[in-house]
Order: sequence, then C-alpha cells, then structure tokens
Amino acid sequence: MRAVAVVSAGMTAFGELWQSSLRDLFGDAAAAALRGVDAMRVDSIYVGNMAGGQFVGQEHLGPLLADQLGLRGVPATRVESACASGGAALRCGFLEVASGASDMVLVAGVEKMTDGADVTAVLATAADQEQEVYQGVTFPGLYAMIARAHMHTRGTTEEDLHWVSVKNHRHGALNPKAQFRREVSLHDVASSSLVAAPLRLLHCSPVSDGAAAVLLVPLERAREFTDKPVRIRGSGMASSSLTLAERADPAVLDAVRASGERAYRMAGITPRDVQLAEVHDCFSIAEICVLEALDLTAGVSAAEAARTGYSALGGERPINTSGGLKSKGHPVGATGVAQVIEIFEQLRGEAGARQVQGASLGVTQNMGGSGASSVVHVLERV
Ligand code: COA
Repeated sequence: MRAVAVVSAGMTAFGELWQSSLRDLFGDAAAAALRGVDAMRVDSIYVGNMAGGQFVGQEHLGPLLADQLGLRGVPATRVESACASGGAALRCGFLEVASGASDMVLVAGVEKMTDGADVTAVLATAADQEQEVYQGVTFPGLYAMIARAHMHTRGTTEEDLHWVSVKNHRHGALNPKAQFRREVSLHDVASSSLVAAPLRLLHCSPVSDGAAAVLLVPLERAREFTDKPVRIRGSGMASSSLTLAERADPAVLDAVRASGERAYRMAGITPRDVQLAEVHDCFSIAEICVLEALDLTAGVSAAEAARTGYSALGGERPINTSGGLKSKGHPVGATGVAQVIEIFEQLRGEAGARQVQGASLGVTQNMGGSGASSVVHVLERV
C-alpha cells in the first residue's frame, strides 16, 4: 500500500443555512479544497451523505455533485453509513489512493437537514426498524439508555455529562465555523429542557446543515501541492449490531473499540501516542463511551475527563477542540470529514485560538447510529 496524505481542505460554516441548498453547500466546500492547491481535476470523488433522499428528496449525489463542480465524467460515488458516512467516504478515498488506483481523490461530506423533513424520524432510519423504531425509540432515547447503563454500572453522574457539554461549548466558542459560538455554564446545561431522561437539550448535538471536503494524494507527491502535508497513518472500520439490546453491555461500544484497534495497528501506535482527538459526541454520554473504547484516558476516568480538564484545551489530551458535534454542529454526512479537517488544521498549526501547541499526531472517530458502525483515522504531521 502507498502512504496517503491530506493536502487541502475546505468547509462551510455549520448551522441552519437557509440560503444554501445541498448542492451549494457541497460546491462551496469542495471548491475551497480544490482552490487550496490550484487543482482543476481529480481522479475520483467520494461523497459521504446519510439521507439526501429523505431530507431534501435528492439521491444519486455522486454525478450531481461532480457536475456541480464542473467535473462531469469523473467517477463519483455517494457513501452511506448513517452518521459515519463522512468517515466511511474518507476511508474509501484513502484505500483508492493507497491501492495506486488513483492519484488525486476528493472526499466530501454533506447534509442538508433543516429543509422541513421530520428530522427525528429520518435519523431513526439508522436504527433497527423492526426491533427498535417500531417500538417507539428515537436516537435521543437510545443514547439515554446508554447513559442510564453507564450510570448504573460505573457510577457516572448527570454532572459528568454536563461537563462534557460545558467543555465542548467552550471549545466551539473559539471556532468561527461552529453552529453555537457561545459558552454554556453547568447551570445552563442542568436546567435545559429534558429531551429523553437523563439527556437534556444541552447534552444533544443539534440539527445542522453543512459540508466539508479534503483532497487526498500519495504522500510521495504531496509536496507538489503543499509544504505542510498531513499523512493518514492508520484507518480502521468496524460494525456491530444495529440493535442496542443485542449488545452484551449497551455502554460498551464494541465497534468503536475494534475500529480503534485496527487503526492503531495500521499506524503502529498505541493510545498513549495520541495527543488530541475529534470523537463522535452526538450526545455527551457518547464522548465518554468513545474515550473508553479508544482507551484515550489511560489512568483517569473517562467520565471525569471533562470535569478535571484532562480533555479540555490546555489539558493533557484535548478532545473535540472544534467544539465537537455538540457545539460545532452535526450535519450528519459531513461530520466525519469535518473531524479530519480539525485535526488537519491542528497538525499544520492553523487552528488559531484553538491551537494545541506542538500537535503532531491526532485521531478522528466517526460513528453511525448507536455505535453500529465506527471509523477511526490516525493523522500525523509530516
Ligand atoms: N444544543 C443547543 N441549543 C439547541 C440545540 C442543541 N442541540 N437544539 C436546539 N437548540 C436551540 C435552538 O437554537 C433554539 O434556540 P433559540 O430559541 O435561541 O433560537 C432552541 O434551542 C429551540 O430550538 P428547536 O429547533 O425548536 O429545538 P428542538 O426542540 O426542535 O430540537 C433537539 C432539539 C435536541 C430535539 C434536536 O436538536 C435534536 O434532535 N438533536 C439530536 C440530533 C440527533 O439525534 N442527531 C443524530 C445523533 S445519532
């Protein structure tokens, strides 16, 4: 396999973007990534998107979006793995460049969620229809059950959940692309409205529009495009049961653990080498479970990592410096690519007020459903 590098990135702000259609969002992010290295053509395109058909009535996104870029004729494929669609698209692009089949691949993620669809029902199509959704379960409900299980078996408290949200809003306040650029207090989180007990409004990621795109090339050609390439050193993906009830412990995300182990193994690293990470905090409890599954809080309790400052900017291992899904926003198909852009900027020293000094190795983790699919990438400054 050839070594692969990210050489350019572009993304829209995340939020309720009434003035932009799905194709506008994709076009803005992809054009910015291409402009970054003066690229006129690419060999192929992958687009992560969860539910264009249900959110805006648009399927067949590959050719539509290639055409939008003026790249008619280029192979273009939409990749779907629920909220992990962006991470899965990145993995497809990575494998295509690593295999030698292509030298320049555009990987994008896009979602337009605010155009009037029943968002909760559309998102629930990523859960098991027969065993879960038919019984009335929604995603806030599934993650509420995960939170209850975590509290029951590990003594995690509601206040532990509040601290994750406080930390991620603090980070997001420093991110010009974030949907919510405001800090929230412990009291704000604790008194926000109950969505699915014990989860409150300020434990939830929001409903968002947005797009993100990166350009991948073989590492040996990366310097033709940029002085600061970022290598994708490891890629791991795994799956689990869609149904939460079929997992041995609902608070253990086995697909996240397996995808992390595979990515660490390919990269030849251990969790101790990871300096910072963007993880899938679709609900605050998810950040805690993911940190445990990726073994990213060795020696300290994952539930207490935000409260103690371990996972905050300036702490031992900053997590979700972008603001995470909670504060930056979660246009589901775009999230996995946007996570990579945050680490890309951090490793290039371009993260502004959110910069982690001396960052040279970071990880992204993107998850579908209640953890039935997970994609992990290890990125390294060259
Ligand atoms: N965090 C912070 N503020 C939020 C928010 C969130 N997650 N969601 C909405 N708000 C704010 C809105 O900006 C709005 O503020 P304003 O009154 O100042 O304009 C206010 O809360 C009400 O917004 P509204 O859109 O009416 O909220 P809602 O009650 O319809 O939706 C949730 C709130 C939590 C139900 C919705 O954000 C949600 O479903 N989130 C989860 C998404 C999800 O499941 N993603 C997939 C994960 S697997």
